[in-house]
Amino acid sequence: MRVLVAGATGVVGHPLVGALRARGHQVSALVREESRAKAPDADAVVVADALDRQGLLSAVAAVRPEAVVHQMTALRLLRDDPAAAFARTARLRTEGTANLVEAAREAGARRLVAQSIAFAAAPVGGPVLDEDAPLYVDAPDPGWAATVRAVAELERLVLDGPGPAGAGPAGVVPAGVVPAGVVPAGPGSAGPGPAGVVLRYGTLYGPGTAYARTGATGQAVLAGRLPLPEGAAGITSFLHVEDAVGAAVAAVESEATGVFQVTDDEPAPAAQWLPHYARTLGGPAPRTVPAALAPRLLGWFVAHQLTAARGAANGRARTALGWRPGRPSWRDGLGAE
Ligand SMILES: NC(=O)c1ccc[n+]([C@@H]2O[C@H](COP(=O)([O-])OP(=O)(O)OC[C@H]3O[C@@H](n4cnc5c(N)ncnc54)[C@H](OP(=O)(O)O)[C@@H]3O)[C@@H](O)[C@H]2O)c1
Repeated sequence: MRVLVAGATGVVGHPLVGALRARGHQVSALVREESRAKAPDADAVVVADALDRQGLLSAVAAVRPEAVVHQMTALRLLRDDPAAAFARTARLRTEGTANLVEAAREAGARRLVAQSIAFAAAPVGGPVLDEDAPLYVDAPDPGWAATVRAVAELERLVLDGPGPAGAGPAGVVPAGVVPAGVVPAGPGSAGPGPAGVVLRYGTLYGPGTAYARTGATGQAVLAGRLPLPEGAAGITSFLHVEDAVGAAVAAVESEATGVFQVTDDEPAPAAQWLPHYARTLGGPAPRTVPAALAPRLLGWFVAHQLTAARGAANGRARTALGWRPGRPSWRDGLGAE
């Protein structure tokens, strides 16, 4: 199959290009001009910024992909400029995704697979939630609420397309109805739009991630800067980068559509994973701090993750995509790379 990977220089996108080619697919890597030198080995490299609609439409049309994979964020900026990282990532999830969905549709792609996150659910109900749990769009922290709203918009765009409200899936106009000013699609132009798959990845660990030894979280733990709030009952569902890649391959090759949580089999409370992670890294044991102080010491999101977040079940991805994690437990490798 002809597959285009957007975000092909990224933590997941880069190895994904190689994994798809190893399965016999013809893979185009979409990169920004300034990142051309970091492009992976691919059958073709196309250059565009996802926030430049016209440039993106042309680049995607040039390689006529049958499937498009969206692995774009600007989270690499987190260390240097967290506000810019979140703002730019929100734009990529909304505007960038709308552009990519349109480009995929214009190019006649059949499938669109996009990265989302498995830790955006509101902390209500049991310790481990499925895909039907409501997203935390009304989180008390305005920054996190904005992030979750952008995630919700990405998911909507991937599943329904960027068409006008009420136009139905992928903006498809009912047969025989052509709105004023719209030229009916000719051969090679936009069809009904690609079938969408949203992969809600768990907290990524492994090479290049924040949880790698050299990553931001790894460095914080090694420096003793990530304490455990008392109780530490927040649940994290982890995912090794290789499994994120494997799920994306499975989603490209499957006929399934919809939202799937892609996580390992062992959702874990912070009281378990954080001390284990610190030990594996060879860092100091995390000290305990009063839970009430956690938001001030750690920031709202990290405090939420360690005290209140819910885990994410992977049953639907297993059943519908035929995917299973090669690393079923974070105990096998978190902090080791
Ligand atoms: N589930 C999770 O836990 C999760 C999810 C996402 C990210 N993260 C963390 O965030 C960090 C980064 O991971 P990541 O895979 O999201 O990001 P990444 O490795 O930085 O990959 C993002 C990709 O998006 C591309 N991109 C950014 N802006 C673009 C634009 N305007 N147009 C086209 N492409 C654009 C980047 O290209 P350039 O090379 O040109 O910038 C890059 O290829 C890691 O530490 C990871 O642990 C975690």
